[in-house]
Amino acid sequence: MATRYIYRIDDEDEKKVLKTRCRPAKLPDSSLKRLIADMYETMHAANGVGLAAPQIGLSIRLAVVWTPPEVETLEDGSEVEIAPERSYTLINPRIVKMSNEEIIRQEGCLSLPGWYGDVPRATWVTIEYQDLNGKTLRLRKADGLLGWAIQHEVDHLDGILFTERIRDISTLRDMSKEMSVEKPQTVQV
Ligand code: NI
Repeated sequence: MATRYIYRIDDEDEKKVLKTRCRPAKLPDSSLKRLIADMYETMHAANGVGLAAPQIGLSIRLAVVWTPPEVETLEDGSEVEIAPERSYTLINPRIVKMSNEEIIRQEGCLSLPGWYGDVPRATWVTIEYQDLNGKTLRLRKADGLLGWAIQHEVDHLDGILFTERIRDISTLRDMSKEMSVEKPQTVQV
């Protein structure tokens, strides 16, 4: 496995790649295995919860999403895991249904490290995607961090950046210094 370079929104040439609508992956394709492993490694190394193929320069409809385990603190101060971490390898994902309600939350992107802005997203989405064998899978009503990350990644595959989803552009700011001491409250995808 190898960590790949992550393309940046603030680089003119790299932005062109990020703005390109990706082509579907032709399945089955066992050569994608290595690429997917690299994408997980790159995402984790950058402390992200999602990474799309165009972010490493490949215009393929492929993204990985990872959400951390949910932890609850007990009265004695010890922590207990109440939900496991989850990983999804999304090949040719498409949103087939989404909620009417939206939620606005602070969103960032590994292609613009440190910057966050308020982005409206559907509160949940149902998606269909394929596995490496080309089998179609359905994920129903993904919400919370998972649903939000999926919408961000599907946008990447369509060449849409989170900065374009921000309604109030004054909310976009560099928070890298503010978050350097404490544990980040927000995540990047
Ligand atoms: Ni992103």
